[in-house]
Amino acid sequence: MTIRHFLTLNDLTPAELQQIMHRAIELKAMHHAGEIFEPLKNKTLAMIFEKSSTRTRISFEAGMTQLGGHALFLSSNDTQLGRGEPLEDSARVISSMVDGIMIRTFGHDIVETMAKYSSVPIINALTDDYHPCQLLADMQTYQEHRGSIQGKTVLWVGDGNNMCHSYINAAKQYDFKLRITCPEGYDPNMDLVKANAERVEIIRNPLDAAENVDLIVTDVWASMGQEDEQKLREKAFDDYQVNKAMMNKADKDALFMHCLPAHRGEEVTADVIDGKDSVVWDEAENRLHAQKALLEFLMARK
Ligand code: CP
Ligand code: NVA
Repeated sequence: MTIRHFLTLNDLTPAELQQIMHRAIELKAMHHAGEIFEPLKNKTLAMIFEKSSTRTRISFEAGMTQLGGHALFLSSNDTQLGRGEPLEDSARVISSMVDGIMIRTFGHDIVETMAKYSSVPIINALTDDYHPCQLLADMQTYQEHRGSIQGKTVLWVGDGNNMCHSYINAAKQYDFKLRITCPEGYDPNMDLVKANAERVEIIRNPLDAAENVDLIVTDVWASMGQEDEQKLREKAFDDYQVNKAMMNKADKDALFMHCLPAHRGEEVTADVIDGKDSVVWDEAENRLHAQKALLEFLMARK
């Protein structure tokens, strides 16, 4: 059977993404009921981290344990990858010993190269361009709280970053409309926007953009690797904060999501992230269940 990778949401069909979402909801119920389910017994997931993580590391590691397998944490500092061993060689060697490789890194080309040379599935756990695992959890969270997201309108507020790009892919794959409100100079990849023009639009005025939307999502103003730009970005993004005024423009049933970690008082106010419309804790927990469904899909295949 051919290996399936998960580098972006486009690596799975809309039907497969729905299947994984519904399976995640099932696995969550089973886990909460204390049911033991170990389809990945004896399997190992190598987890390569070139950037920091709380949620991603814990959810993949705990997820592998719960599925009966093992997760191996590899930081680039402690492996030969960090000392310049070619990616191609690393991919060949690591994949000869494990059943799946998860990688969080900088350039998206790094996960593409890993996928080219790996004999086991590669999972993108965040690159500078995409964060597809987070979208699995976000889509599950919307489904659990409000039902299908198909035909709804989502607003992305802030940087046109890796999360924003994954929201653009999600608009296509889960069939919703996406508005993006960001300051000039911080637009997402415009080729991606144009390729999805029937579903995605950029609206500069944040309050106009929020009119009647069903979900508001934001993320930090400076992503990992952009720490030096923090001060500059605080100025540029000043008008792009999710606050009560913005939530009040949205539909009365609108939800708020944030992949976390969050900076209260910057991209979101405390009264929104800690308020009644926020589902960020469910969203974070769902990383576990969504990725277990993904791991089962990719690694339990014969
Ligand atoms: N949302 C997310 O990916 O969190 P971590 O950086 O903590 O993994
Ligand atoms: N855009 C953020 C997401 C963190 C989960 C970053 O890349 O740092």
